[in-house]
Amino acid sequence: MAAIAKMISHQFLGRKIKLIFKLKLGFRAVHQSSQFSITTPIFYVNAAPHIGHMYTAVLADTIHRWQHLLGRKSYLYTGTDEHGLKIQQSALRQGVEPLEHCNTVSQTFRDLFTTCGIDHSDFVRTTEPRHRDAVQNFWGVLESGGHIYKGTYEGWYCTNEEAFLAEEQTHMVDEGGTVNRVSLESGHPVQWTIEENYLFRLSSFQQPLLELVKKEGFIQPSVFKTIVLGWLESGLPDLSVSRQRSRLPWGIQVPGDSAQTIYVWLDALVNYLTVSGYPGNSTNWPISCHVIGKDILKFHAIYWPAFLIAAKMEPPKHIFCHSHWTVEDRKMSKSLGNVVDPFDRIQKYTSDGLRYFLLRNGVPHFDCDYSDVKVIACLNDELCNNLGNLLSRSTAPSLNPEQTWAPSDASWEDFLTNLSDEDESLINQLVNLPEVVSSHMDQYNIYKAMDSILRVLRDTNAFFQRRTPWNDRKLGTHETIIRLNNTLHCTYEILHVCGILLQPMVPNLSNSLLSHLGIPSHSRTYQNATRSAFHRIRIGETGKERQMKGKRFLGERKELFPRILTEKPQSVQPVKSKKKKLKVQK
Ligand code: MSP
Repeated sequence: MAAIAKMISHQFLGRKIKLIFKLKLGFRAVHQSSQFSITTPIFYVNAAPHIGHMYTAVLADTIHRWQHLLGRKSYLYTGTDEHGLKIQQSALRQGVEPLEHCNTVSQTFRDLFTTCGIDHSDFVRTTEPRHRDAVQNFWGVLESGGHIYKGTYEGWYCTNEEAFLAEEQTHMVDEGGTVNRVSLESGHPVQWTIEENYLFRLSSFQQPLLELVKKEGFIQPSVFKTIVLGWLESGLPDLSVSRQRSRLPWGIQVPGDSAQTIYVWLDALVNYLTVSGYPGNSTNWPISCHVIGKDILKFHAIYWPAFLIAAKMEPPKHIFCHSHWTVEDRKMSKSLGNVVDPFDRIQKYTSDGLRYFLLRNGVPHFDCDYSDVKVIACLNDELCNNLGNLLSRSTAPSLNPEQTWAPSDASWEDFLTNLSDEDESLINQLVNLPEVVSSHMDQYNIYKAMDSILRVLRDTNAFFQRRTPWNDRKLGTHETIIRLNNTLHCTYEILHVCGILLQPMVPNLSNSLLSHLGIPSHSRTYQNATRSAFHRIRIGETGKERQMKGKRFLGERKELFPRILTEKPQSVQPVKSKKKKLKVQK
């Protein structure tokens, strides 16, 4: 029996081998020895979180969970940035002490991260003593290395950006008859400021920074690398790294100088050291990846590596920079009243629903526009129809009364040997899928990884439709039942693999899907996705390929992702897509 199985398998391999191996898929070693660490920026506590903040955190969380899926130890760090004039002014407006204000807003960020499943290993607050110690220690290292000197700094100061700007970074605007100078980038007012403070010798790091930034993959995507190279090539002035304490009391004092407060950006950037245990024994250094938005690129790609090089510490391995979410093509702002509240949207669409939309529709190199119409169309089409309906149709008791995998002894090898071209292409896509997803995830192209999963699910819906399993059940002959079981088994395998690969993006939804199919929690790793029945056949491991045979589904039958109903459902247009839309049988 085993010999026959082996023969069949080899025939199968012989026929399909060209197609499959042409794609050069190997079982790559996914267990890498080193651990992974990833950070989000720490969030300002001057206002409540919006979906842009959630997006940054969800990107980092998805990459972190992906590393876990690969079997690597991974750490995710996040927190809140609590010093600076903006926070001080915000507390004043609320009529509370700065720390009280920070406690409240910091907790709101924590709550959001709990609600949307951010699996952080540490949450740092810059008002914590451990952080103050790290910052003052780091300052001491820079100072004793001769990288900091006292001088007079003058320039246009933008309180909102907490930064001195060069004249060409500002312009004049007419605001109702009054002409004011504002920051070109943020549009916020600037004031000419002359201060005695400490300066960091940034100018002496131009060369090492150029070398670092030119390194392949240091800044991703490459569009942001080009921007940073432009900044570096145009020259680097020394950087003011303190402010007069009289003007900015809400911050960490310069060690040994009670008249000066450490620049909030130097303070904030050191959070990445704080979470690694600095100034004690640093675990997890250097950080593998800093996830940041485009507005804070200069601070992370220039200032931060320069500080680290000066302190003789390794800079991060990667910076992953993303663009912003807009609303009706405008920046989200309180004054425009267009800020999208993530708590409210999570209530409407669930945490996984909102995660899915942001990750699937957000591309790192362009700004993306948020609208509820787009969210509803995307989730109804992809999570409700393509994924949820496929699961409910294929596991329906009318087709599968036993509610198990492969209810009878079906001729699996025959099925795989006699595939139509369309079916063969689907199976090949599935065999390649883990590797395809993995290569996108390696580049932090989460949206592309999701697109490839969705393509397989769309094609599986088409496969299911072509195979008309309901007719096979109705006819009920020996042959049609075998055919039916093969259709079901194949669909379950695909759902199984897609469910595993979707875990980092939509952990709760994937958990429901995999649990429904009866996949034990220890069998949900990347390696499990590379060892579906189709893969095992490919490498000649017959006999084991039906190991799910007879496994019972678990849990109650309920909709995986219920359709989101709107008040006027007919007005919701699907998002324009170049891809062919699949008609799903009702
Ligand atoms: N506190 C600094 C970061 C210090 S890190 C050492 C800060 N905080 S922030 O709260 O203003 O922004 C945090 C992150 O949210 C940044 O990466 C920023 O780009 C991101 N976003 C803010 N608005 C956003 C959108 N509209 N869309 C996407 N991301 C957005 O900057």
